[in-house]
Amino acid sequence: PRRATVAMTATVAPPSLEVGAQNLDWPNIGFEYRPTRSFVHYRYRNGEWDGGALEPAGLDATVPVSIGATALHYGQSLFEGLKAFACKDGSVRLFRPTANAARMARGAARTLMEAPDEALFVEACARVVRENLDYVPPYGSGGALYVRPLLYGAGPRIGLQPSDAYDFLVLATPVGDYYKGGLGKPVKACVVEEYDRAAPRGVGSVKLAGNYAPDLKPNTEAKQSGYPIGLYLDAGSRTYVEEFSTSNFVGICGETGKYVTPQSDAILPSITNDSLMKLAERSGMTTERRPVAFDEIASGKFSEVAACGTAVVLTPVGSIARGGSEYELQHNTEPGPTCLDLYTRLTDIQRGDAPDEDGWTHVV
Ligand code: PLP
Ligand code: COI
Repeated sequence: PRRATVAMTATVAPPSLEVGAQNLDWPNIGFEYRPTRSFVHYRYRNGEWDGGALEPAGLDATVPVSIGATALHYGQSLFEGLKAFACKDGSVRLFRPTANAARMARGAARTLMEAPDEALFVEACARVVRENLDYVPPYGSGGALYVRPLLYGAGPRIGLQPSDAYDFLVLATPVGDYYKGGLGKPVKACVVEEYDRAAPRGVGSVKLAGNYAPDLKPNTEAKQSGYPIGLYLDAGSRTYVEEFSTSNFVGICGETGKYVTPQSDAILPSITNDSLMKLAERSGMTTERRPVAFDEIASGKFSEVAACGTAVVLTPVGSIARGGSEYELQHNTEPGPTCLDLYTRLTDIQRGDAPDEDGWTHVV
């Protein structure tokens, strides 16, 4: 009976799909999981990947998983996040999918998983977007189709060993702002004091599912205390800034105008951060990737601080709390000028409104 239900659900998009045809309340969709028509599911078995199948992506969508799957028992699971944008010329473009493919491959190497190669990764992402074009928020709505690739050990093991079977699925869901108010409203941050995100020589630099479960409690507690975003310090000395829960840290130096972002092996190398740095350099700004002491925040060195990542884009931070003190940034009610400029230049490229000099966008 279950098979019959699946077979009856149309997973293949009709050929005439139009961007945004789903008529959601696009400007107000926020960042939550919304069902779409289909996700794409590839399987690695007996040493090779299959051609992938489209499966229905309703709210009740499931995948069969071995009760012994290494993903469930030992956390052998990696995810990625990227966005597809509707452009004025009618095209839909993924932003830097090859960079996500490379990051997933690095994570797979660290956790002894079989990764899809770049071509498979990019095609899987493009395919899910093409099949769900009507869920892509229209040009001008401010939203994007968030694409979530997921790779996990699907085969059973009871001793600690890597799986020999892997599932790679890519789902998509339309999203708007991660934090309410988006760019326009700086968020209040607090330093996470009771917990660390990633150990020195640990796995903070890969997008391992298991890096995120430990953040659920600190993240929820921070939100409940009035801080939508938590900032992690280095676990070794608790002296240096690492990153926010789901995004990298960017500071704009008040005196020099430099773009400063922390250097640490425990940070996730953000593709958004890399892109913003390149844009900053192109406009003549100096950029620095180096250890950033928390004291630099406390002493007011930065005129602007922002969180950057696929989901949060570039979200200005208005203040950072630590140990009973609130360190206010100069621009705490509206985005600072540098953030605003970088945000505009990045999103213009993503939406095809500015030339893509680096070949970052990929038409689906
Ligand atoms: N840092 C963490 C911990 C993240 O989860 C993310 C999100 O992917 C980022 C940074 C930003 O990375 P990217 O810009 O590649 O999305
Ligand atoms: C992203 O920005 O794509 C992420 O993966 C962050 C996620 C935890 C919401």
